[in-house]
Amino acid sequence: MHAIRHHRFGDPDVLRWEQMPTPEPGPGEVLLRVEAAAVNRYDLLSRAGINPRLPLPRTVGIDCTGTVEHYDGPRTDLAPGTSVVVLGDRLGNGGPGAYATHVCITADEVFPLPLDTCDITAACLGIPYVTAYYALFQRHHIRPGETLLVPGAGGSVATAAIQLAHHAGIRVLATSHGPARCSRARRLGADECFDYRADDIPAQVRKATDGRGVDVVINAVGGDTIAQGLQCLRDRGRLLAIGSAQGRQFAFDGFRFLLREQQVIGVNVTPLTPTRRFAIFQKLLALIQAGHITVPIDHFQPMAQAAEAHRRIESGAAFGKTVLIPPPAP
Ligand SMILES: NC(=O)c1ccc[n+]([C@@H]2O[C@H](COP(=O)([O-])OP(=O)(O)OC[C@H]3O[C@@H](n4cnc5c(N)ncnc54)[C@H](OP(=O)(O)O)[C@@H]3O)[C@@H](O)[C@H]2O)c1
Repeated sequence: MHAIRHHRFGDPDVLRWEQMPTPEPGPGEVLLRVEAAAVNRYDLLSRAGINPRLPLPRTVGIDCTGTVEHYDGPRTDLAPGTSVVVLGDRLGNGGPGAYATHVCITADEVFPLPLDTCDITAACLGIPYVTAYYALFQRHHIRPGETLLVPGAGGSVATAAIQLAHHAGIRVLATSHGPARCSRARRLGADECFDYRADDIPAQVRKATDGRGVDVVINAVGGDTIAQGLQCLRDRGRLLAIGSAQGRQFAFDGFRFLLREQQVIGVNVTPLTPTRRFAIFQKLLALIQAGHITVPIDHFQPMAQAAEAHRRIESGAAFGKTVLIPPPAP
């Protein structure tokens, strides 16, 4: 088998397409041939060393779909040839990694896909769409009629959040960079989108909400955008802190925050069991099949060229999901 591995933390140049022995599945494990692996920001952050405790060398990637090649266990739904999605924390956090031609993983993280499901779409839902759904409707309960701000509309979690909120009857304000990306955000369901490189975002949000501010912010960007998000929130508003694409230190004016009785709510899908993730995944598939949400694809990349995909995302050019396609089976 082949996999995208790195032996030290660093920039995309550390990624190597390496040959390695195909693992022998042990009791209760599934060996699958990967059909598609979706790229997430965490792949870039973990490659760069955000979690220095990850053992090296490692294979990158936390989201993939595949076809079962071998399973010797009690489950009757994992026969060879079955299309599956991997949902769980192990895959990319010390586990086998998704950027590979083959993955060997415990069966509790493997779920069969309904027959008519596209394996590319399914690979893209695992982390970002499950996270956005969990954040908006389970960790927190956003209500129809409320207004939501989604910074960084081109991001994976953000594109999911815009669509899910719009479908739930939420008024969505978004930010992105440049008019073309703002247009794409509006096509996904944002009622308004502001350019964070050109506009005064808090002023624009106040104007769009009659001076009141939004009810909720869902923030997967981190860094300075947390303080900006609090400025955009109404009194007693809630900010869902999901990610740190632009930096993991969140500095904000604590006095202003307490005067306004705002809340910052941390969101982390890591502890969600695979079964709970699959329950959300099934709701997402139903929304996709009904045409209510979609997965905007930025581009497909041969898996061996994963470093190129990482560079494009780091440059800020990507909008939506990047999908790595492994070479065809010999
Ligand atoms: N807590 C959890 O359980 C959980 C789950 C999933 C993801 N995450 C984390 O969430 C973060 C985002 O993941 P992702 O895969 O969605 O990342 P992504 O696809 O790379 O999106 C990041 C986005 O940040 C936006 N951005 C950059 N600078 C900005 C600024 N100054 N103002 C506003 N937006 C800005 C960009 O938006 P534009 O393209 O529109 O400019 C970019 O697309 C990562 O840190 C990831 O690890 C956490």
